[in-house]
Amino acid sequence: MNQTKTSMAAAILALLGTSGLAAKPATPTAPIHYDADHKTFRIDAGKITYAFGVNDDGILQTLYWGSRLAPDDAVGNATPPKSRSAFDAIGANTPQEYAGWGGPITVMPDLKAHFADGNRDLILRYQNYKIDDGGLQVTLGDKAAKVSVILRYVADPATGIIGRSARIENHATQVMTLDRVAAASWNLPAATDYSLRYLTGTWAAEWHVRTRPLTPGATDLESRRGSTGDENNPWFAIERGGHWNESQGHVWFGALGWSGSWNIHIDQDVLNQVRITGGFNPFDFSYRLQPGEGLDTPVFYAGYTDDGIGEASRLMHRFEIARILPEGPKPKLRPVLYNSWEATEFKVNEPEQERLAEKAASLGVERFVIDDGWFGARNSDKAGLGDWVVNREKFPNGLKPLIDKVHGLKMSFGLWVEPEMVNPDSDLYRQHPDWVLNFQDRQRSLGRNQMVLNLARQDVRDYVFNALDKLLTENDIQFLKWDYNRNWSEPGWPQVAPEEQQKVYVTYVQNLYDIMRRLRERHPGVEIESCSGGGGRVDLGIMGLTDEVWPSDNTDPSDRLSIQDGFSYAYTPAVMMAWVTGSPNWVNKRNSSLDFRFLSSMQGGLGIGANILEWTPAEDATARSYVEAYKGIRATVQQGLLYRLLSPQERAPYSATESVAADGSQAVLFAFLRQGQEAQAYPTIHLQGLDASSRYRYRTIHGTVAPGTPAVASGAYWMSHGIDLGLRSDFDAAAVVFDRVNGDR
Ligand code: DGJ
Repeated sequence: MNQTKTSMAAAILALLGTSGLAAKPATPTAPIHYDADHKTFRIDAGKITYAFGVNDDGILQTLYWGSRLAPDDAVGNATPPKSRSAFDAIGANTPQEYAGWGGPITVMPDLKAHFADGNRDLILRYQNYKIDDGGLQVTLGDKAAKVSVILRYVADPATGIIGRSARIENHATQVMTLDRVAAASWNLPAATDYSLRYLTGTWAAEWHVRTRPLTPGATDLESRRGSTGDENNPWFAIERGGHWNESQGHVWFGALGWSGSWNIHIDQDVLNQVRITGGFNPFDFSYRLQPGEGLDTPVFYAGYTDDGIGEASRLMHRFEIARILPEGPKPKLRPVLYNSWEATEFKVNEPEQERLAEKAASLGVERFVIDDGWFGARNSDKAGLGDWVVNREKFPNGLKPLIDKVHGLKMSFGLWVEPEMVNPDSDLYRQHPDWVLNFQDRQRSLGRNQMVLNLARQDVRDYVFNALDKLLTENDIQFLKWDYNRNWSEPGWPQVAPEEQQKVYVTYVQNLYDIMRRLRERHPGVEIESCSGGGGRVDLGIMGLTDEVWPSDNTDPSDRLSIQDGFSYAYTPAVMMAWVTGSPNWVNKRNSSLDFRFLSSMQGGLGIGANILEWTPAEDATARSYVEAYKGIRATVQQGLLYRLLSPQERAPYSATESVAADGSQAVLFAFLRQGQEAQAYPTIHLQGLDASSRYRYRTIHGTVAPGTPAVASGAYWMSHGIDLGLRSDFDAAAVVFDRVNGDR
């Protein structure tokens, strides 16, 4: 990995002195000020101001989070609220930045612990602060319990997104057991018109967007699966006013950078204050700190905009590209790839892969990837996982001849791995049956015929690292598709004392990150994709160590419109891979044209996953022209600003997106019609984000525009007058490119 590059996650972890990404230098942060007269901290970044202060009781209290204030505006003083009743004691409802469970509080605490002497009371009061290039560090503590909590704040000057995390330190002479540890709490002012948007789904149906009003009471978004999961994704957005709109409205949003079990608890209290607390999932959680030990939390990122949910997503996208991705702020564009998984499944072999590679190269493909089936006794999902040696029946001469062939065809070479798993029918499991998560003498449940290796064990961590390091050292590989195909079950760790076993939830993920970080350091040219049977492990933690993600195993181009749309609420198209596969699609048997399949996949990082050996010359020609056209627009599509123009959610008939290049020189419009609507015309498309006074010339990649559409018009024209497209029949699609006319600014 390029040591001069950095990410915000890296900055926070580096400052906290943890493992993980600590080798990277700190990220510049927006200025953070402390006002000693009023004991207030203030962050001005992007278009936001965030302020909190120390109240008379020494408690850190949120004061303001919203649109940018004038530099001389007062942000107020922190004061303890009055007691409302005997049941709401003084301080019980204070919107605390980071609350210990102790004293009178009734809200969900950030930190709950118990001590060897029986004490469970913890009151975190302000002690001191430090501001430097890396951000703000505020130390809270409970003097009697001898516990310190170091809060870190880093603010991105461009987007106003703040990253917060905490380090818990036990300075006592007794053991402290952590029962619940959040990274941060975000407080919103009292109001009765909030609503929550979040993402939910399941295998092959990820990224559904859901919205519900917030009322007094709690909502938990979470994963108890051991990894990020797709039932919920660790992202939220809260709108105020009750009118979700892509371009208007107050929206607070955030995402957690953690790839293990996580929890985001959203609570509206009796005073209508809203508190969003996120971090390790407290379910089945326990983490013992010996005297002198500490624990670092993940980072909880959050931002605010008054320009609607569309702008909230664009801020996230910009932030991820610039501050999260390992190669940011200018990550490489995703190459067009070929992967034969849907075409051949486990039946990979050297001659056929070579033929596929030749055909792929002739279509303009830039990366060739062998998926599952190349190793061990892997002829189905029943055997071989864990044995990372080339299957000599399928590749008698090893991978080298194929890799050389692929390189000779001017493509990079990629390989599928699933390093955290093992089939019981494998040499690895026969040698090390104790390496999997399990409880002594209890059932070991299978998922897809496999078990989860306990990566928290140092020997297992070393085995996985060494196996992958060897693979990458012995073979000239440029890309790993890193898969992860089941949830945890029976998460025991019998080799350590019972009271230490639940550390597995933290140590496993730390070791996963450590393996990825070290592999990137030792093999700087290798890119990694995070795949988890589809989109089951997409979060800002894993994104700090990977170059792209696989959003879903569902490659049906119509279903993908909703999947990709949902994904875009939280994550950038710069990492979102999308393949053109066979028709009818394997998921739902739906037939669709090659045009529809290409245009749907061109909304992200384009790949081809069909059996291209069966394509006709006409299909080859179609594919070749789309691949070429894609290369001319991919910088705009992957790293430009995304505008969701027509939403495909809830099986809507229409879907349209527009991407605008960062320098404003190009816009790309994709429009889809799932089902013709009687004799109705397709809705007029009003572009967004263009420079009103520049002139743009349109050209179609596919589809027609209404007769009389001017070849060149101003940004104002395309945005206000709009453009009419000739989409009429089921599964029809169009792509139109708007190039700024030379000389126009
Ligand atoms: C699940 C992935 O999502 C698929 O793309 C494929 O790689 C299979 N695993 C292989 O087993």
